[in-house]
This record gives sequence, structure tokens and C-alpha cells, in this order.
Amino acid sequence: MPHMLITGANRGIGLEHTRVLLSRGWHVSAACRNPDKASDLKALDPGDGRLKILAYDAGKAGAADALKAEVSGPIDILFANAGVFGPNDQSFGNSDFDAITRTLQVNAIAPLKLAEAFADQVAKSQLKVMALQSSRMGSIADNTSGGYYAYRASKAALNAIGRSLSVDLKPKGIITLIFHPGWVKTDMGGAGGTLTVNECVEGQLDLIARANPAMNGRFFHVSGEDLDW
Ligand SMILES: NC(=O)c1ccc[n+]([C@@H]2O[C@H](COP(=O)([O-])OP(=O)(O)OC[C@H]3O[C@@H](n4cnc5c(N)ncnc54)[C@H](OP(=O)(O)O)[C@@H]3O)[C@@H](O)[C@H]2O)c1
Repeated sequence: MPHMLITGANRGIGLEHTRVLLSRGWHVSAACRNPDKASDLKALDPGDGRLKILAYDAGKAGAADALKAEVSGPIDILFANAGVFGPNDQSFGNSDFDAITRTLQVNAIAPLKLAEAFADQVAKSQLKVMALQSSRMGSIADNTSGGYYAYRASKAALNAIGRSLSVDLKPKGIITLIFHPGWVKTDMGGAGGTLTVNECVEGQLDLIARANPAMNGRFFHVSGEDLDW
């Protein structure tokens, strides 16, 4: 049975990935900060052992290695999805050193540590996909409006990391996909989003199902369009 490990699984896009793949018969290792409080996630449990809910805080050093101790066997999709928008005020002149550092840790460094911890288990799977939940706001080419220093820099860093992973993990047969999920109605995206979580997730899973070496290291809109770096 195929297996996904996903972070940020307790709400938003990560919760919907978990729901959809469980409904398709997958095993899901669902990582979140507070398993005890993850009531929406617990409610998805089919009760047959296919859902494992695991504690994981992307802002903590050692989190990926601790998670590795809990997740065994091949991983078809490693989805580094957890993310934060960062401090409320990201305008020029108001940069908060510690808050920007925390945003970089969660959005960029944590996915790299996950990749390092789990690359061998992904390589042993059928699909061999490493998916990074980035954002078009990390595109330097697309940045004509400025601001949002913490979020933009963290997702640009994630894109750079994803591109390096696509080179370094290619010999293991791993395909690294870097995603902009679209503007999605979640706590982060807000009610004005143009996609439901289900539209986003179905689109991302369609792309993942078509993953092939020609897609390795590319930055995709959920529509399948290539985005500029
Ligand atoms: N929604 C959009 O329009 C949009 C657009 C572009 C990119 N994205 C990206 O998509 C991903 C998912 O976002 P979303 O829209 O689903 O947002 P969301 O509803 O705000 O969910 C964010 C998820 O990340 C988790 N998370 C945050 N900090 C964490 C940490 N330190 N350790 C572990 N988990 C942590 C949250 O867990 P807690 O409940 O514990 O906080 C939550 O599960 C993010 O990477 C985001 O940047 C979203």
C-alpha cells in the first residue's frame, strides 16, 4: 500500500491531502505540532492502522530526526507542507530579526532536514516523490510589489533548496517537485482564495501521479504551469 508522510497535517492543505489519500486506501504518516489537539485529523482515522499521527515541530532542531525514529518503511511521497506566513508586519523598516529567522527555519531549513532524514526511505518506494509546498511569493521574477520580506525570502530559499535536492537526489531516482498550491481558502490563504483545499489537493495529486524525470526540480503552479524562479 502506498505511503505518504506529510507535515502540517492537522489543518488546511495538509489535512485535505491526508483525507484524500486515506480515502484512496493509502497509508498516511501525518505530522503536526500538537497531536492531542488535532481533532480534525483524528476524525479522519479509518481505524485500520493506515493513519499514524505524529508529533513534529518544524521550528525545533532535531525534529526531523525524531520523526525518523517513528516512521519506518518506504515513503512514496514526502510532502514538506507545513509553513508559516511569518510576522504580521513585513514592511520595509520594520524587520524583526528573530521573527524572520523563525520563518526561515520553518519554511526552508526544516524541509531540507526532512529531505536529509527521509531520502533513503523515499528512494525505496515506488513513486519516489519529494514535494515541497512553496509559494509564488518566493518567485523573484514575479516580485513586482515588494514587501513580505520574511515570507518571500523563506520561500525563495525553499526553491533554491528544492533545486539542489533535485540534483543531489537524482541518482537515487527521487523526483523533487516544487509547488505553488494556488491561492487556497485556508487559515493562511483567507476566505478570498480562489481554490478550495480539495481543488488544490486534487491538482497536486494529479501532478504527483504524473511525476517523471522531466518534471524533476521544476516549480509548478497547481494548474501544471511552470513558474518563473
Ligand atoms: N493557502 C494558500 O493560498 C497558500 C499559498 C501559497 C503557499 N501556501 C503554502 O501551503 C502550505 C500550507 O498552508 P495552508 O494554506 O494549509 O495554511 P494553514 O491552514 O495556515 O496551515 C499551516 C499548517 O502548517 C503547520 N505549521 C505551522 N508552523 C509549524 C511548525 N513550526 N511545525 C509544524 N507545523 C507547523 C500548521 O500547524 P499548526 O496548526 O500547529 O499551526 C498547519 O498545519 C504552507 O507551506 C504555505 O506557505 C499556501
